[in-house]
Amino acid sequence: MIPIGFLGLLFLLLALYCGIDPFKHSAISEFPDFESYKVDLPPWELVPADRDKDNLLQKSEIKFLNQVQGPESMAFDPLGRGPYTGVADGRVLLWDGQNWKDFAYTSSNRSEICNPKPSPQSYLPNEHICGRPLGLRFDKNTGDLYIADAYLGLFKVGPEGGLATPLVTEVDGVPLRFTNDLDIDDEGNIYFTDSSSKFQRRNFMQLVFSSENSGRLLKYNLYTKETAVLVRNLQFPNGVSLSKDGSFLVFCEGCPGRLLKYWLKGEKAGSTEVFAILPGFPDNVRTNKEGNSFSSSLYLQKFNTCFRLAVSCTELL
Ligand SMILES: *[C@@H]1O[C@H](CO)[C@@H](O)[C@H](O)[C@H]1NC(C)=O
Repeated sequence: MIPIGFLGLLFLLLALYCGIDPFKHSAISEFPDFESYKVDLPPWELVPADRDKDNLLQKSEIKFLNQVQGPESMAFDPLGRGPYTGVADGRVLLWDGQNWKDFAYTSSNRSEICNPKPSPQSYLPNEHICGRPLGLRFDKNTGDLYIADAYLGLFKVGPEGGLATPLVTEVDGVPLRFTNDLDIDDEGNIYFTDSSSKFQRRNFMQLVFSSENSGRLLKYNLYTKETAVLVRNLQFPNGVSLSKDGSFLVFCEGCPGRLLKYWLKGEKAGSTEVFAILPGFPDNVRTNKEGNSFSSSLYLQKFNTCFRLAVSCTELL
Protein backbone atom coordinates (compact mmCIF):
# COMPACT_ATOMS: atom_id res chain seq x y z
CA MET A 1 0.00 0.00 0.00
CA ILE A 2 1.26 3.43 -0.90
CA PRO A 3 0.24 5.94 1.74
CA ILE A 4 -2.19 8.62 0.58
CA GLY A 5 0.14 11.28 1.98
CA PHE A 6 2.93 10.13 -0.33
CA LEU A 7 0.63 10.20 -3.39
CA GLY A 8 -0.51 13.65 -2.37
CA LEU A 9 3.09 14.86 -2.15
CA LEU A 10 3.88 13.34 -5.54
CA PHE A 11 0.86 15.05 -7.05
CA LEU A 12 1.84 18.38 -5.48
CA LEU A 13 5.39 18.09 -6.85
CA LEU A 14 4.06 17.23 -10.30
CA ALA A 15 1.70 20.19 -10.21
CA LEU A 16 4.56 22.48 -9.10
CA TYR A 17 6.81 21.09 -11.82
CA CYS A 18 4.16 21.72 -14.50
CA GLY A 19 3.37 25.13 -13.10
CA ILE A 20 6.97 26.36 -12.87
CA ASP A 21 8.38 24.34 -15.80
CA PRO A 22 11.98 24.76 -14.53
CA PHE A 23 13.60 22.95 -17.48
CA LYS A 24 11.48 24.68 -20.12
CA HIS A 25 9.93 21.46 -21.35
CA SER A 26 6.61 23.08 -22.10
CA ALA A 27 5.66 23.60 -25.73
CA ILE A 28 4.81 27.23 -24.97
CA SER A 29 7.92 28.15 -22.96
CA GLU A 30 9.39 30.00 -25.97
CA PHE A 31 6.19 32.00 -26.46
CA PRO A 32 5.92 34.58 -23.67
CA ASP A 33 2.91 36.20 -25.40
CA PHE A 34 1.12 32.89 -25.74
CA GLU A 35 -2.61 33.31 -25.43
CA SER A 36 -5.35 30.72 -25.82
CA TYR A 37 -8.61 31.35 -27.61
CA LYS A 38 -12.05 29.88 -27.21
CA VAL A 39 -13.03 27.26 -29.78
CA ASP A 40 -16.73 26.93 -30.52
CA LEU A 41 -16.93 23.20 -30.88
CA PRO A 42 -20.12 21.58 -32.15
CA PRO A 43 -22.01 19.41 -29.63
CA TRP A 44 -20.67 15.84 -29.34
CA GLU A 45 -23.79 14.37 -30.94
CA LEU A 46 -23.11 16.23 -34.20
CA VAL A 47 -19.58 14.84 -34.50
CA PRO A 48 -19.68 11.79 -36.77
CA ALA A 49 -18.41 8.50 -35.36
CA ASP A 50 -14.88 7.80 -36.51
CA ARG A 51 -15.74 4.80 -38.61
CA ASP A 52 -14.79 4.07 -42.20
CA LYS A 53 -17.50 1.45 -42.68
CA ASP A 54 -16.39 0.53 -46.20
CA ASN A 55 -12.76 0.21 -45.10
CA LEU A 56 -11.75 2.45 -47.96
CA LEU A 57 -8.42 3.46 -46.44
CA GLN A 58 -7.48 -0.15 -45.73
CA LYS A 59 -7.96 -0.90 -49.43
CA SER A 60 -5.64 1.87 -50.56
CA GLU A 61 -2.14 1.12 -51.73
CA ILE A 62 0.97 2.63 -50.14
CA LYS A 63 3.17 4.14 -52.84
CA PHE A 64 6.66 5.64 -52.68
CA LEU A 65 7.29 4.37 -49.14
CA ASN A 66 10.43 6.04 -47.68
CA GLN A 67 11.21 7.73 -51.00
CA VAL A 68 10.17 11.28 -50.15
CA GLN A 69 10.26 13.23 -46.89
CA GLY A 70 7.26 15.23 -45.74
CA PRO A 71 5.13 15.39 -48.91
CA GLU A 72 1.97 17.43 -48.27
CA SER A 73 0.04 18.17 -51.45
CA MET A 74 0.09 16.31 -54.77
CA ALA A 75 -0.68 17.56 -58.25
CA PHE A 76 -0.65 16.27 -61.83
CA ASP A 77 0.17 18.62 -64.71
CA PRO A 78 -2.25 19.23 -67.63
CA LEU A 79 -0.46 16.50 -69.63
CA GLY A 80 -1.20 14.03 -66.84
CA ARG A 81 2.41 13.77 -65.69
CA GLY A 82 3.23 13.37 -62.03
CA PRO A 83 2.57 13.29 -59.21
CA TYR A 84 4.40 16.44 -58.26
CA THR A 85 4.87 17.04 -54.55
CA GLY A 86 6.60 19.49 -52.19
CA VAL A 87 9.06 17.95 -49.72
CA ALA A 88 10.65 18.84 -46.38
CA ASP A 89 13.88 20.27 -47.84
CA GLY A 90 11.93 22.87 -49.85
CA ARG A 91 11.97 21.30 -53.31
CA VAL A 92 9.01 20.42 -55.52
CA LEU A 93 9.67 16.98 -56.98
CA LEU A 94 8.23 15.28 -60.06
CA TRP A 95 7.71 11.54 -60.39
CA ASP A 96 8.60 10.79 -64.02
CA GLY A 97 7.38 7.21 -63.90
CA GLN A 98 10.75 5.85 -62.76
CA ASN A 99 12.41 8.38 -60.46
CA TRP A 100 11.78 11.46 -58.39
CA LYS A 101 13.33 14.44 -60.19
CA ASP A 102 13.91 17.99 -59.00
CA PHE A 103 11.28 20.24 -60.53
CA ALA A 104 11.07 23.57 -58.72
CA TYR A 105 11.93 25.46 -55.57
CA THR A 106 10.69 28.65 -53.89
CA SER A 107 13.78 29.94 -52.05
CA SER A 108 16.38 31.99 -53.91
CA ASN A 109 18.76 31.40 -51.00
CA ARG A 110 19.21 27.64 -50.97
CA SER A 111 22.57 26.33 -49.79
CA GLU A 112 24.11 23.21 -48.24
CA ILE A 113 21.92 23.77 -45.15
CA CYS A 114 19.01 22.46 -47.30
CA ASN A 115 20.82 19.20 -48.16
CA PRO A 116 19.24 15.80 -47.36
CA LYS A 117 18.80 15.02 -43.67
CA PRO A 118 17.77 11.89 -41.76
CA SER A 119 14.21 12.92 -40.88
CA PRO A 120 11.59 15.50 -41.91
CA GLN A 121 11.92 17.07 -38.43
CA SER A 122 15.59 17.88 -38.99
CA TYR A 123 14.65 20.45 -41.66
CA LEU A 124 12.46 22.51 -39.31
CA PRO A 125 15.11 25.05 -38.17
CA ASN A 126 15.92 26.05 -41.78
CA GLU A 127 12.46 25.87 -43.34
CA HIS A 128 12.21 29.66 -43.51
CA ILE A 129 15.45 29.73 -45.56
CA CYS A 130 15.01 26.62 -47.74
CA GLY A 131 11.25 27.08 -48.22
CA ARG A 132 8.47 24.62 -47.50
CA PRO A 133 6.06 24.10 -50.41
CA LEU A 134 2.69 22.85 -49.15
CA GLY A 135 -0.23 23.49 -51.55
CA LEU A 136 0.34 22.79 -55.28
CA ARG A 137 -2.06 23.38 -58.20
CA PHE A 138 -1.59 23.58 -61.95
CA ASP A 139 -3.32 26.10 -64.17
CA LYS A 140 -4.90 23.71 -66.66
CA ASN A 141 -4.68 26.23 -69.50
CA THR A 142 -1.10 27.48 -69.17
CA GLY A 143 0.60 24.59 -67.35
CA ASP A 144 1.96 27.03 -64.76
CA LEU A 145 2.29 25.58 -61.28
CA TYR A 146 1.11 27.63 -58.30
CA ILE A 147 2.73 26.92 -54.96
CA ALA A 148 1.68 27.88 -51.43
CA ASP A 149 4.97 27.99 -49.51
CA ALA A 150 4.41 27.89 -45.74
CA TYR A 151 7.10 30.51 -45.04
CA LEU A 152 7.62 32.43 -48.26
CA GLY A 153 4.08 33.03 -49.60
CA LEU A 154 2.28 32.38 -52.87
CA PHE A 155 4.47 31.49 -55.91
CA LYS A 156 4.23 30.62 -59.57
CA VAL A 157 6.60 28.58 -61.74
CA GLY A 158 6.36 27.82 -65.46
CA PRO A 159 5.91 24.32 -66.97
CA GLU A 160 9.71 23.93 -67.21
CA GLY A 161 10.13 24.42 -63.41
CA GLY A 162 13.15 26.03 -61.73
CA LEU A 163 13.08 28.98 -59.35
CA ALA A 164 9.49 30.08 -58.69
CA THR A 165 8.43 33.74 -58.70
CA PRO A 166 6.77 35.23 -55.60
CA LEU A 167 3.26 36.62 -56.23
CA VAL A 168 2.02 37.49 -52.75
CA THR A 169 4.00 37.88 -49.54
CA GLU A 170 1.66 40.11 -47.52
CA VAL A 171 -1.95 41.22 -47.54
CA ASP A 172 -3.23 44.53 -46.12
CA GLY A 173 0.20 45.05 -44.57
CA VAL A 174 0.00 41.73 -42.68
CA PRO A 175 2.71 39.30 -43.91
CA LEU A 176 1.69 35.81 -44.92
CA ARG A 177 3.13 33.73 -42.12
CA PHE A 178 1.78 30.28 -42.81
CA THR A 179 0.58 29.98 -46.42
CA ASN A 180 -0.98 26.58 -46.67
CA ASP A 181 -3.09 25.58 -49.67
CA LEU A 182 -4.66 27.00 -52.82
CA ASP A 183 -6.96 26.38 -55.74
CA ILE A 184 -7.30 28.20 -59.05
CA ASP A 185 -10.37 28.90 -61.20
CA ASP A 186 -10.70 29.57 -64.95
CA GLU A 187 -10.79 33.33 -64.47
CA GLY A 188 -7.31 33.77 -63.01
CA ASN A 189 -8.40 33.80 -59.37
CA ILE A 190 -6.29 31.94 -56.87
CA TYR A 191 -7.99 31.12 -53.59
CA PHE A 192 -5.55 30.40 -50.80
CA THR A 193 -5.21 30.15 -47.04
CA ASP A 194 -2.84 31.73 -44.54
CA SER A 195 -3.21 29.49 -41.49
CA SER A 196 -1.98 32.10 -39.01
CA SER A 197 -0.25 35.47 -38.87
CA LYS A 198 1.28 34.57 -35.50
CA PHE A 199 2.59 31.04 -35.68
CA GLN A 200 4.70 29.54 -38.43
CA ARG A 201 4.43 26.01 -39.72
CA ARG A 202 7.14 24.67 -37.42
CA ASN A 203 4.97 25.82 -34.49
CA PHE A 204 1.73 24.31 -35.71
CA MET A 205 1.25 22.52 -32.38
CA GLN A 206 1.37 25.85 -30.55
CA LEU A 207 -1.18 27.12 -33.07
CA VAL A 208 -3.41 24.17 -32.22
CA PHE A 209 -2.97 24.73 -28.46
CA SER A 210 -3.62 28.44 -28.81
CA SER A 211 -6.37 28.19 -31.45
CA GLU A 212 -5.71 31.86 -32.13
CA ASN A 213 -7.86 33.30 -34.88
CA SER A 214 -5.63 35.26 -37.24
CA GLY A 215 -6.07 32.73 -40.08
CA ARG A 216 -7.39 34.04 -43.40
CA LEU A 217 -8.98 32.87 -46.63
CA LEU A 218 -7.59 35.02 -49.46
CA LYS A 219 -8.05 35.62 -53.16
CA TYR A 220 -5.35 36.75 -55.58
CA ASN A 221 -6.17 37.80 -59.14
CA LEU A 222 -3.50 37.08 -61.76
CA TYR A 223 -4.55 40.00 -63.98
CA THR A 224 -5.16 42.80 -61.45
CA LYS A 225 -2.43 41.38 -59.13
CA GLU A 226 -4.61 42.36 -56.20
CA THR A 227 -5.20 40.26 -53.13
CA ALA A 228 -8.43 40.40 -51.14
CA VAL A 229 -9.25 38.94 -47.74
CA LEU A 230 -12.42 36.85 -48.14
CA VAL A 231 -12.75 35.51 -44.59
CA ARG A 232 -10.73 36.47 -41.50
CA ASN A 233 -10.64 35.33 -37.86
CA LEU A 234 -10.23 31.70 -38.77
CA GLN A 235 -8.72 29.14 -36.39
CA PHE A 236 -6.15 27.26 -38.46
CA PRO A 237 -7.64 27.33 -41.97
CA ASN A 238 -5.92 24.75 -44.15
CA GLY A 239 -6.91 22.92 -47.39
CA VAL A 240 -8.99 24.69 -50.10
CA SER A 241 -10.92 23.21 -53.02
CA LEU A 242 -13.26 24.80 -55.55
CA SER A 243 -16.50 23.09 -56.47
CA LYS A 244 -16.82 21.74 -60.01
CA ASP A 245 -19.01 24.60 -61.22
CA GLY A 246 -17.01 27.23 -59.35
CA SER A 247 -20.04 28.50 -57.46
CA PHE A 248 -18.43 27.84 -54.06
CA LEU A 249 -15.30 26.55 -52.46
CA VAL A 250 -14.75 24.34 -49.44
CA PHE A 251 -11.95 24.94 -46.97
CA CYS A 252 -10.81 23.28 -43.76
CA GLU A 253 -10.83 25.00 -40.40
CA GLY A 254 -8.60 22.87 -38.19
CA CYS A 255 -9.29 23.83 -34.59
CA PRO A 256 -13.11 23.59 -34.68
CA GLY A 257 -12.67 20.42 -36.83
CA ARG A 258 -14.89 21.33 -39.75
CA LEU A 259 -15.15 22.10 -43.44
CA LEU A 260 -16.58 25.51 -44.32
CA LYS A 261 -18.30 26.43 -47.56
CA TYR A 262 -17.64 29.88 -48.99
CA TRP A 263 -20.09 30.99 -51.66
CA LEU A 264 -18.51 32.68 -54.69
CA LYS A 265 -21.57 33.05 -56.93
CA GLY A 266 -25.32 33.44 -56.60
CA GLU A 267 -27.31 35.29 -53.98
CA LYS A 268 -25.27 33.85 -51.09
CA ALA A 269 -21.97 35.05 -52.63
CA GLY A 270 -19.55 36.21 -49.95
CA SER A 271 -21.16 34.22 -47.15
CA THR A 272 -19.75 31.26 -45.25
CA GLU A 273 -21.59 28.27 -43.85
CA VAL A 274 -20.63 24.98 -42.21
CA PHE A 275 -20.24 22.27 -44.84
CA ALA A 276 -19.28 19.32 -42.63
CA ILE A 277 -18.34 18.59 -39.02
CA LEU A 278 -15.43 16.16 -38.76
CA PRO A 279 -14.06 13.92 -35.99
CA GLY A 280 -10.50 15.30 -36.20
CA PHE A 281 -8.36 18.17 -37.44
CA PRO A 282 -8.94 18.48 -41.19
CA ASP A 283 -5.74 19.15 -43.12
CA ASN A 284 -6.29 18.89 -46.85
CA VAL A 285 -9.49 18.78 -48.90
CA ARG A 286 -9.91 17.69 -52.52
CA THR A 287 -12.83 16.89 -54.81
CA ASN A 288 -13.15 13.46 -56.36
CA LYS A 289 -12.51 12.94 -60.09
CA GLU A 290 -16.08 13.80 -61.06
CA GLY A 291 -15.98 16.89 -58.88
CA ASN A 292 -19.20 15.93 -57.12
CA SER A 293 -17.89 15.13 -53.67
CA PHE A 294 -15.13 16.30 -51.35
CA SER A 295 -12.81 14.24 -49.23
CA SER A 296 -10.65 15.55 -46.48
CA SER A 297 -7.60 14.11 -44.78
CA LEU A 298 -7.74 14.16 -41.00
CA TYR A 299 -4.88 14.03 -38.60
CA LEU A 300 -4.61 13.68 -34.86
CA GLN A 301 -7.98 12.06 -34.52
CA LYS A 302 -7.26 10.66 -31.06
CA PHE A 303 -5.68 13.94 -30.09
CA ASN A 304 -8.84 15.69 -31.21
CA THR A 305 -10.84 13.84 -28.58
CA CYS A 306 -8.37 15.02 -25.90
CA PHE A 307 -8.53 18.51 -27.36
CA ARG A 308 -12.33 18.48 -27.18
CA LEU A 309 -12.19 17.26 -23.59
CA ALA A 310 -9.69 19.99 -22.70
CA VAL A 311 -11.83 22.65 -24.35
CA SER A 312 -14.94 21.32 -22.58
CA CYS A 313 -13.10 21.38 -19.22
CA THR A 314 -11.86 24.93 -19.81
CA GLU A 315 -15.42 25.97 -20.50
CA LEU A 316 -16.46 24.62 -17.08
CA LEU A 317 -13.95 26.87 -15.31
C1 LIG B 1 20.57 33.16 -46.80
O1 LIG B 1 20.84 31.99 -46.02
C2 LIG B 1 21.83 32.16 -45.02
C3 LIG B 1 22.02 30.81 -44.35
O2 LIG B 1 22.42 29.85 -45.29
C4 LIG B 1 21.41 33.20 -44.03
O3 LIG B 1 22.42 33.41 -43.07
C5 LIG B 1 21.09 34.50 -44.74
O4 LIG B 1 20.54 35.41 -43.83
C6 LIG B 1 20.09 34.27 -45.87
N1 LIG B 1 19.92 35.50 -46.65
C7 LIG B 1 18.71 36.00 -46.91
C8 LIG B 1 18.70 37.22 -47.74
O5 LIG B 1 17.69 35.49 -46.52
